[in-house]
Amino acid sequence: MRTPIIAGNWKMHLNRCQTAQLAGELKVGHKWPGQVEVVIAPPFTSLGTAAEVLQDTPISLAAQNVHPKDQGAFTGEISPVFLVELGCEYVIVGHSERREYFLESDDFINQKVKTLLAKNLKPILCVGERLEHREQNQHYDIVGEQVINGVAQIESTEMEKIVIAYEPVWAIGTGKVATSEQIDEMHLFIRKVIERRFNSDIAAKVRIQYGGSVKPDNAAEILGLPNVDGALVGGASLKTSDFLAIVKAC
Ligand code: 13P
Repeated sequence: MRTPIIAGNWKMHLNRCQTAQLAGELKVGHKWPGQVEVVIAPPFTSLGTAAEVLQDTPISLAAQNVHPKDQGAFTGEISPVFLVELGCEYVIVGHSERREYFLESDDFINQKVKTLLAKNLKPILCVGERLEHREQNQHYDIVGEQVINGVAQIESTEMEKIVIAYEPVWAIGTGKVATSEQIDEMHLFIRKVIERRFNSDIAAKVRIQYGGSVKPDNAAEILGLPNVDGALVGGASLKTSDFLAIVKAC
């Protein structure tokens, strides 16, 4: 059985003080350890604060990005070694905002995935088509390619540590949610892609999250779909009651 995973991607929101407040409220409010894995991804500058507040709690920490190299002349970048030191367990890679605004390629994202696994950090690999891809019926090709390229040169023993987050770009921050049918079909497709690339055992173990306007009022339906193993939540993860309602629904 796959343990579902709900992750809050805070994006570029919440300073250290706000982080201490929200993380503190989540710590008190999270009543379902063991049944659902809960992860938060604050901005880099808030990770240390979140780590202190969440010490000895079942809530894990994720970073929102990483550089593939351990150290070097990469101004403004963050090494995976620093993230290990801060107590991160997960790192989000390949988010559509990074693909779009920072021109990150599948190859660069794959380098990050490999680095993370080598450091015992678990990647949350985001994939998802843009609206024009779906309108032109290319969504399966695009997402399949992103998955295959993202996990290139990964050993099968490592694959089960990777969480895939399917986030259709047109559903992010727009209030537009993919239909249950669209979500479950795509998750099933992603699992088939992993099965073809590795094997059915591995495919059955990999967790696939949905992301894109997940809110308390649609969470139960989305999280109840057979191939959905959790959610990557943006906007609704910034409000304690909303995020906890999604965890509870899960
Ligand atoms: P929203 O939940 O705000 O649509 O964001 C989704 C997302 O991008 C999570 O990574």
